Amino acid sequence: MNRWTRLRGSFPIFQQVHFMETAYYNPLAKEVRAAIAEFYDSVQAGGGPRSWRTALVDARAAASALIAVPPDRIALTKNTTEGLCAVANAVPLGPGDNIVTLAFENSANLVPWLHLRRRGIEVRLLHHPAGYALPEAFRAAVDRRTRVLAVSLVQYYSGYRANLSALAEIAQRVGAYLVVDGIQAVGAMDLNIDRLGIDALACGGHKWMLATHGTGFLYCSGRFLEVAEPTYLAEEGLAEDTWPDRLVPSQQANRFELGNENYAGFVGLVAAARLLQGIGLHEIEKRVLELTDQLIAGLDRARVSLVTPRDPKQRLGIVTFKITGADAFVDACDRAGIRVSLRNGAVRVSVHAYNNQDDLVALLDLLDSHIATVA
Ligand SMILES: Cc1ncc(COP(=O)(O)O)c(C=O)c1O
Repeated sequence: MNRWTRLRGSFPIFQQVHFMETAYYNPLAKEVRAAIAEFYDSVQAGGGPRSWRTALVDARAAASALIAVPPDRIALTKNTTEGLCAVANAVPLGPGDNIVTLAFENSANLVPWLHLRRRGIEVRLLHHPAGYALPEAFRAAVDRRTRVLAVSLVQYYSGYRANLSALAEIAQRVGAYLVVDGIQAVGAMDLNIDRLGIDALACGGHKWMLATHGTGFLYCSGRFLEVAEPTYLAEEGLAEDTWPDRLVPSQQANRFELGNENYAGFVGLVAAARLLQGIGLHEIEKRVLELTDQLIAGLDRARVSLVTPRDPKQRLGIVTFKITGADAFVDACDRAGIRVSLRNGAVRVSVHAYNNQDDLVALLDLLDSHIATVA
């Protein structure tokens, strides 16, 4: 059995369904479920705080390894939104400063920035008809009052993969921070965040990372930690040995952590990371791109209009296309046991390493029938 068949075997859903909705959520690996169940068994048996603490240490290590950063740069969060909110409220900002982001970002990466308008912060929203975040648009929009560039590594709708090194260079030239929403990439991409010059990256575990809802993390660069002031500060976020005499935030990213965590979820996240690392992120990214290449070739044969760029450097696991009757097609997929998503009136297919050619063929066959009926 090859490694992809073995990976597929971890997900019972593939016995019944062609699941291509990882950009929405992942269908829970047996190993992740077992790790969570074992954790709760231990709680029921009176398992103690020491193992809870270990779960968090392991989860920070697992998350940091997925993006190649040191574990002390990771704060555990419950989702992407929490990480982005923490960053938006920790960056030093004053009236007249501006933030540059994209009008078509997921709301998780818009609302926290737009909420800063009440403090006199300008939010510059870039528009692009196809939903791309091209570096040139950022270059033209920034000035010396720009404090933040906020962008998704992979766009949830178009699937466009941002050029992070180009954006980091633009941010650094004006002294701004580059803040990244990583949820549509981490777990499916071989990332070396330290090398890319990103200041913060927020991610949730329940999509490409193969963990569950209620798990996530926030990466903070050393440069960002030098200035980041947490809005919420709790005992977990204090430098050791300062409490109760003084309130000194931790030097590490865990200054953003608050109270008891989702221990079971993080045990699951560690099991999920083990599944991914057992194969290797380089191999996973290669497989995802091979499958999406095949999918795009099939979509081209069907002559549908692609929203996602063709250049493999500009995409990852999401492929979105437009067809007449997209909603009826997604319903027909559902009835045929093919799971894809309807986003902004287009069909969004998300392909992880656990998908295979059978999944693609099933989708493309149904697409041919759909096109024949609406033509
Ligand atoms: C790009 C992007 N950011 C954020 C989110 C929401 O993330 P979370 O629920 O982890 O806050 C989603 C999808 O749900 C998304 O696609």
